[in-house]
Amino acid sequence: MKTLATLPSLTNKTVFVRVDFNVPLKDGTIRDDNRIVAALPTLKALLAKGAKLVLLSHLGKIRHKDPTKLEGDIKKNNLTIVAPHLASLLGVKVDFSEATRGDVLNQKVKALQAGTILLVQNTRYEVGEEKNDLGLAQAWADLADAFVMDAFGSAHRAHASTAGLPTLLKQKGKPVAVGYLVEKELLALAKVVKVEPSARPYVAIMGGLKVSDKIKVLEELIDKCDKILIGGAMTYTFLKAQGKHVGNSPFEGDQLDFARHLMEKADSKLVLASDFVSTNSFDNPTVFETYEGEIQGEMMGMDIGPKTIARFQAEIAKAKTLFWNGPMGVFEKPQFTQGTLAICEAVRQLGKSAFTVCGGGDSAAAVAQFGFMDDFSHVSTGGGASLEMIENAGHLPGIDVIED
Ligand code: 3PG
Repeated sequence: MKTLATLPSLTNKTVFVRVDFNVPLKDGTIRDDNRIVAALPTLKALLAKGAKLVLLSHLGKIRHKDPTKLEGDIKKNNLTIVAPHLASLLGVKVDFSEATRGDVLNQKVKALQAGTILLVQNTRYEVGEEKNDLGLAQAWADLADAFVMDAFGSAHRAHASTAGLPTLLKQKGKPVAVGYLVEKELLALAKVVKVEPSARPYVAIMGGLKVSDKIKVLEELIDKCDKILIGGAMTYTFLKAQGKHVGNSPFEGDQLDFARHLMEKADSKLVLASDFVSTNSFDNPTVFETYEGEIQGEMMGMDIGPKTIARFQAEIAKAKTLFWNGPMGVFEKPQFTQGTLAICEAVRQLGKSAFTVCGGGDSAAAVAQFGFMDDFSHVSTGGGASLEMIENAGHLPGIDVIED
């Protein structure tokens, strides 16, 4: 892998850096700047080498195919406010380009001084970004002397800014590399992609809403792991597949065969949640009941129950390697935090005796919210990217393109 250390002298060179500044915004403010902070080491190192930095990032989803949604998406996913925030974190000048290509962008790039930054508006404003459009990638490649990939959270996307641009630069013999954030993620995730016998038992914990989002990774994990613990709302699809009642809990009717196949294949490796903290209404919960085996009447499951917590904690206590993706319950609501919190506490108990990875997304948000960031060996900045690394034996399009 080409790292920052492999780059030649960058003094006065224009370096395009793909960052993942896909941060949550609310009422015109940045609600969580973790992803911006995580990119700082790379940006500081490049600035210290005297480079001029042009930063590319997407923000949110832009539905170009739906004219009724497009205008709202563009308004909502504007990167402008990130520029002053980044400037205050780094203490350097950060200019902003509303133009994503063309004369205005070209002029701004030409006017850049060594040791300063230009942040470009949301790459997904360009309809060609997600199509990996050659013309768009070429417009950026024409301005760049080098490229650094530090957007781990977007490395599973083969888009113009993550794949097309570095491909063109490599063809021109220009240097490309991964940044420190990506390097750190790859080193950590490699340890849960391929697990040596001395690092076993390998325990995976999967949660979240949909089985359908995680079909491939569940198949892979069953082959790789010694135990797979399944909690969260995806459990109700497994219960339904066993012919049990789930009350008003969500389940995926079109995934029942897959759930049956997985249960058969995993056999004793699979530990399914077996009791459930349930309520009468998602938005306005007033009645609370814990059910074992199946969920009665019109109640809906919202969290794993105490017996499941005890079984999961006993398995986690044996782990030497652990990977966790997806919360155990609706942890955003105070009545249903217990299951997710219990996973965090069990990982804290493991301490340094195991290598523990939280695979990004909602579970990483829970780890941060509950104050357990330092208890994991690694908390990934990429939800989809870390799952795809496991699915594809360590390969991601935005990373493979950088390799020698
Ligand atoms: C993420 O938040 O997981 C990354 O920024 C990727 O975003 P995407 O799923 O919209 O490509």
